[in-house]
Amino acid sequence: MQKLAIQGGYRLSGEVKISGAKNAALPIMCASLLTADELHLSNLPDMQDVSTMMKLLEQMGVRIDKSVQATAFNAAVVDKLLAPYDMVKTMRAAILVLGPLLTRFGEARVSLPGGCAIGSRPVDLHIKGLIAMGAEIHIEHGYIHATAKRLHGAHICFDLISVTGTENLMMAAVLADGVTVLENAAREPEVVDLASCLIEMGAKIEGAGSDKITIVGVSKLHGANHAVMPDRIESGTFLVAAAATGGHITLTHARADILDSVLDKLREAGAKIDVTGDRISLEMTARPRAVNVRTAPYPAFPTDMQAQFMAMNTIAEGSAIVVETIFENRFMHVQELQRLGAQIEIEGNTAVIQGCDRLDGATVMATDLRASASLVIAGMMAQGETVVDRLLPFIDLTVSNTP
Ligand code: EPU
Repeated sequence: MQKLAIQGGYRLSGEVKISGAKNAALPIMCASLLTADELHLSNLPDMQDVSTMMKLLEQMGVRIDKSVQATAFNAAVVDKLLAPYDMVKTMRAAILVLGPLLTRFGEARVSLPGGCAIGSRPVDLHIKGLIAMGAEIHIEHGYIHATAKRLHGAHICFDLISVTGTENLMMAAVLADGVTVLENAAREPEVVDLASCLIEMGAKIEGAGSDKITIVGVSKLHGANHAVMPDRIESGTFLVAAAATGGHITLTHARADILDSVLDKLREAGAKIDVTGDRISLEMTARPRAVNVRTAPYPAFPTDMQAQFMAMNTIAEGSAIVVETIFENRFMHVQELQRLGAQIEIEGNTAVIQGCDRLDGATVMATDLRASASLVIAGMMAQGETVVDRLLPFIDLTVSNTP
């Protein structure tokens, strides 16, 4: 989808089923490289990154059968230990094949991801951790070339919290010789979902969800069936869209227990929220109140929800301060929101938003995934038509209207 035309000024109401989490699905698909048996995955979201990851695994030799209810991944024969530049440049999560390939096959060649729309995003912590586990790593012609006869356990303390860094090293450690301890590890629910899948495959992991993860290496993993967890960012995005447009929405197949910081902020903005089992309902009857946001690693407020809250703040009552502490360049949506009439000033990693009475539709350009979502939300709040151009393929923002 290259363009999305949105007629603003309507309330978003209805019911929507939440998909499997993109950021859990991608590492879990890479975990299929860790065994010669079949890994069956259900609740994979239908989106471009998942298709790209399937293509990447297939070009290595992994056989993928989508005809069955839970997609089957079979990495019995992997003859290309390579993640080429063309794929890594469109999907940075491709770095997640590094740990699994190296630990099972003793070698991996993965293109270095370049810069990206939200920041420089280096992978030095992934590399440092693998070296501590005995890997030899050379950067050659833009590729990370890693080799190791067999990785060994190590005590690794992350300089800063990295989600995919934690996931890559956890996958490397499950087949390493001995015990690996990851300190200052990411506590994101997606790390926990990956650990659950690895444990179902026979891995020995304790502490996932805390900042200290201990992995005892085993000689081999086996197949498993795993259902990917619901997407907390997709959930939060729909809730903000309903709150920003004064709507009423119900999410099904969602998890409120991993959305605390987002639900708290929505309540602060004036939304009424009800949680029953896997259903989250939100109703907004008044203009949202401005809410301050400061992004930080889980369980604090997620950077992946910052742009959506920024969009809601543009029409809120009062002024808000939004501080981005994870990525140095994640304010690309601000200039686009300003084109719709939003009043936002940026100073370093801080944005000050003065809520205004209305936004006016215009053509805006999408950059990263979450910026795209924020512009869709802004388009729904604006008067007239907003065209979101160069929209990255992302979550399906269709809500089925209940009668
Ligand atoms: N960092 C380093 N060196 C490293 C790794 C990270 O300096 O080796 C820095 C990054 O530059 C950043 C900070 O550490 O400033 C945190 O980055 P992290 O490694 O945690 O991010 P990531 O693993 O690359 C994942 C998600 C992102 C999400 C971030 C933060 C996946 C596939 N991606 O990225 O999701 O924003 O964690 O929660 O899990 C998205 O879904 O739109 C998205 C960007």
